Amino acid sequence: MQTVIHAEKLSKHFGDFKAVSEISFNVQTGEIFGFLGANGAGKTTAMRMLCGLSIPTSGKASVAGFDVFKQTEQIKKNIGYMSQKFSLYEDLTVTENIRFFGGIYGLSNAELKEKSELLINQLGLQNETKKLVGALPLGWKQKLSFSVAVLHNPKIVFLDEPTGGVDPVTRRQFWDLIYEAAERGVTIFVTTHYMDEAEYCNRVSIMVDGKIEALDSPTGLKEQFNADSMNEVFFELARGAKRNGD
Ligand SMILES: Nc1ncnc2c1ncn2[C@@H]1O[C@H](COP(=O)(O)OP(=O)(O)OP(=O)(O)O)[C@@H](O)[C@H]1O
Ligand SMILES: [Mg+2]
Repeated sequence: MQTVIHAEKLSKHFGDFKAVSEISFNVQTGEIFGFLGANGAGKTTAMRMLCGLSIPTSGKASVAGFDVFKQTEQIKKNIGYMSQKFSLYEDLTVTENIRFFGGIYGLSNAELKEKSELLINQLGLQNETKKLVGALPLGWKQKLSFSVAVLHNPKIVFLDEPTGGVDPVTRRQFWDLIYEAAERGVTIFVTTHYMDEAEYCNRVSIMVDGKIEALDSPTGLKEQFNADSMNEVFFELARGAKRNGD
């Protein structure tokens, strides 16, 4: 096991406000690492620092061996990022979006052709290639967006609430895509509000007001909080309950 994401007392302040406050953790290669927290807990802010999109106020962090302060360009080349806000072009077709983003990621024409065929077959989008992305159901948009984020075979993919607003069946299908990527050795860093999704992660960190208040496997967290479900863990933590061993 190798550490691919390392954060040490990483912080981001906006003026006096501590959006992310001294978070520390390591993520290992091939891990599915869940990042949980209520609205405004600081998940997106933390993720943007790790993606090289926002310079931290203090602390240390590296992603794929690159420093988040000094080597943001190298980080961007080695990761995939699916932002919380839908980021494909709604007024381009499915094929045009794939070609556009593949081009940005520096894929050759031959690679692009091969990859886009594979992606379209995997998602079952054979009959939709000429449709505008804006006309697709949200679940398909999200799946397409994920597939585009891993088009260039990144080592790590950051997913910011990738299944927000999507129905349970489509969410399950989305997680099948995540598992397939993890089996190929891609490390997954994913934020979510859905507690069933937390159960799918190898380890889960729970953020409250900018701080990581708990971090363990779902089983480990349930033991710590004497809880039957991740839902219960989350609520216990939110009301500041004592855990086993405290
Ligand atoms: N650029 C900014 N300037 C000032 N405050 C900010 C900025 N970006 C985020 N914040 C604040 O930092 C806090 C954390 O926001 P963040 O978006 O990281 O939360 P989140 O956990 O991703 O929430 P959500 O689940 O709603 O996406 C919020 O209070 C937000 O208003
Ligand atoms: Mg967010």
